[in-house]
Amino acid sequence: MKILTIIPTYDEIEALPITLDRLQAAVPETDVLVVDDNSPDGTGDYADELAAQDSRIHVLHRTAKNGLGGAYIAGFRWGLERGYDALIELDADGSHQPEQLPDLIAALDRGDLVIGSRWVDGGGVVNWPLHRKLISRAGSLYSRTLLGLPVRDITAGYRVFRREALESIDFDEVESVGYGFQVDMTFRLARQGRTIVEVPITFVERTLGASKMSGDIVVEAMLNVTRWGLTARAQTLRRRLGRALGR
Ligand code: GDD
Ligand code: MN
Repeated sequence: MKILTIIPTYDEIEALPITLDRLQAAVPETDVLVVDDNSPDGTGDYADELAAQDSRIHVLHRTAKNGLGGAYIAGFRWGLERGYDALIELDADGSHQPEQLPDLIAALDRGDLVIGSRWVDGGGVVNWPLHRKLISRAGSLYSRTLLGLPVRDITAGYRVFRREALESIDFDEVESVGYGFQVDMTFRLARQGRTIVEVPITFVERTLGASKMSGDIVVEAMLNVTRWGLTARAQTLRRRLGRALGR
């Protein structure tokens, strides 16, 4: 199986080399694609230097900070073109422990998408402030209920996709810019009847650099989820009404 780990970066110059070392120790067979949005701290140039010394590391440069969703889609396109079978999402900051990745990859034979989940038995978060826990749990609950999905950690960013699952998505239709992208992908795959498996992980809050989470990101995700949920409900209602009145 050809494996690609995609790591989006924006100002991660301190954390990136540590994460890469841990990743290569934990999953030596993976190739890596760093997707950098022209980080002011020089993460992109630094990643180029690392790539020059290691043929398993590749770098994709985007011109500006255009959001997590766009960075991952660019990475997925790059990986699908090059024939990877499994494509992985991993944060650069050490929050997603590479040592837990073999468990996630192993679960791929049970599903099309494996989510490293904080909110299932055995999963959790270390050093997250209360407000982040609340946003994450409330966001997951709201999305799960409105979209009717059986996923506990729907915004999770630690994921393994089967290539076939990604190939079935029209990336031009994915409109989410920020972290709501994760919900967007989950909803799309679930509606296609793809199998989604959650594997417990311990998410460790970063000690280097800063989070790029913002109020705008939360608002975008909430508005999108509300719109998708209501649209899906309206469609179901219309179908039922049509059937009832049809004859
Ligand atoms: N290229 C690029 N462009 N990378 C980005 C961007 C962007 O616009 N925004 C964030 N990143 C990168 C960061 O550099 C980091 O490697 C990773 O994406 C995660 O960003 P963080 O800012 O550290 O996210 P977080 O820790 O607050 O949020 C985590 O939990 C969320 C759910 O609660 C992430 O795992 C999210 O993916 C997840 O949705
Ligand atoms: Mn983080």
